[in-house]
Amino acid sequence: PVCWLNGSFVAEQDAQVSIFDRGLLFGDGVYEVAAVLNGTLLDADRHLVRLGRSLAAIGIPNTQPAAAWLGVMQQLATDNGVREGLVYLQVTRGVAERDFPFPAHVTPTMFAYARPKLLRADPNASGVRLLTVPDMRWNRCDIKSTSMLAQVLAKQAARAGGAFEAMMHEDGLVTEGGSSNLWIVNDGVVQTRPLSSDILAGITRDVVLELAHAAGVPVRERAFTVAQAKAADECFMSSATSFILPVTTIDHDAVRAGAPGAITQRLRAAYLERAD
Ligand code: PDD
Repeated sequence: PVCWLNGSFVAEQDAQVSIFDRGLLFGDGVYEVAAVLNGTLLDADRHLVRLGRSLAAIGIPNTQPAAAWLGVMQQLATDNGVREGLVYLQVTRGVAERDFPFPAHVTPTMFAYARPKLLRADPNASGVRLLTVPDMRWNRCDIKSTSMLAQVLAKQAARAGGAFEAMMHEDGLVTEGGSSNLWIVNDGVVQTRPLSSDILAGITRDVVLELAHAAGVPVRERAFTVAQAKAADECFMSSATSFILPVTTIDHDAVRAGAPGAITQRLRAAYLERAD
């Protein structure tokens, strides 16, 4: 496969980054993941707007215009024959002698690659299990940073517990998934946590809100508890690489019948239709 690194397309096995890269030393970088469906990028423009926000939030200069990123991302999908999958991109502060504050003269490291992944026929669309874990992260979860040890541990705990994803919570109040936003449905009303620095402003979250409005499904942006999720009519997760997946079990408790809910399935179908 071919990836892109600092302005050039190179074979993945030949792409090299210094051991002094601050992305490696400090997790000092940000990233984006966008889906590819029918060979075309999904909402890449919105992902690049968020990339700009993440970069600005941590003071990394945004040296590559969105149009150039779009060209790189689309070429990676095309040249690697990825009709359905994802494009990953990352920007770090760059390479410098190890010292915590920002280096005086440094050039951001930028790279991207593409991977195939089943999205339409995702086997998890029949429903996944979440494991509840305390949210151990910092106060700027709105920045899509590559500093993600808390998510690594949360998702590993989920995996070890036989679950697909973590349901992270602060004293019982759900924040989000390990790498997804979380939703419940009660009496036909869709509910998700409001945007703040406690969660990532998911691009898929935005799209789900738009799809719900378009379908006349009422939406409530209010936090919910683990107990409320377990007792909800429906629960689902959203992310760029999973779209909308039904959550049918939380810990050892089935959500209602333990089967995907009707509104969840309607929203997933509507999401997939956007790409056609
Ligand atoms: N993760 N919350 C967190 C903590 C995330 O890492 C992600 C995405 C989301 C969903 O955002 P979006 O809808 O824009 O993908 C929410 C990506 C997919 C990842 O890390 O692989």
